[in-house]
Amino acid sequence: MRILILSDIHANLAAFEAVMKDAQGKWDQLWFLGDLIGYGPDPNECTALMQSYDPIALSGNHDWAILGKLEIDSFNDYAKNAVLWARGVITKESTVYLDSLPPASVPHEKVSIAHASPRQPIWEYVLDPGTADANFEYFDTPICLVGHTHVPAVFEKTVNNRTNSAYPIYDEPWHIDDGVRRIINPGSVGQPRDSDPRASYALLDLETMMWQHCRVPYDIERTQKKMREAGLSDRLIARLSFGW
Ligand SMILES: [Fe+2]
Repeated sequence: MRILILSDIHANLAAFEAVMKDAQGKWDQLWFLGDLIGYGPDPNECTALMQSYDPIALSGNHDWAILGKLEIDSFNDYAKNAVLWARGVITKESTVYLDSLPPASVPHEKVSIAHASPRQPIWEYVLDPGTADANFEYFDTPICLVGHTHVPAVFEKTVNNRTNSAYPIYDEPWHIDDGVRRIINPGSVGQPRDSDPRASYALLDLETMMWQHCRVPYDIERTQKKMREAGLSDRLIARLSFGW
């Protein structure tokens, strides 16, 4: 079974569509790691498209915030305003679907998934080896996939029980079932934050356990135009051009 792994689409339909086109014919099942909405201009369109693929899907902190399941006091003003905007346009149908999604799951004997981290599935940012190291005791499988940071990443538990970070390898499959436990982030489809504005995603073949990080350009202007029309903040619009 070949898995298409997406995270942090953030209501960016142009990015979502570009990824689905790029990945066409390369997968059998879709796993989504959360934050389907928030920030972007297409929450209902992205929710409907996601449902059409019948995925194994998680909810993220932005999904929870828009549903009213999470306080938004800790969000910055830009994110807060985007949450308030999305609450005004989200349909009942989208709400029901998003509300049905858990923030973490174990979809395979070798792979766990969590939106943010296995320790705190909604909130914790796994950006450094120290945080990753503390999380290995919170899942039982060899591999855990996380999103939330919007930064593609690989953290590996070494034989001497230390945790290293490895740079993601793009467009070249590599074997992840080699006795090394890993926390892997596929990056963000709709709002990358690693200074590369292209949409980020990953492919995993569960038979061969070959993993591949992928990037694909998309029509950023198309999303920015809709954000302007929706009155979303200039800062949120600008960041898509630069990947921060
Ligand atoms: Fe996110």
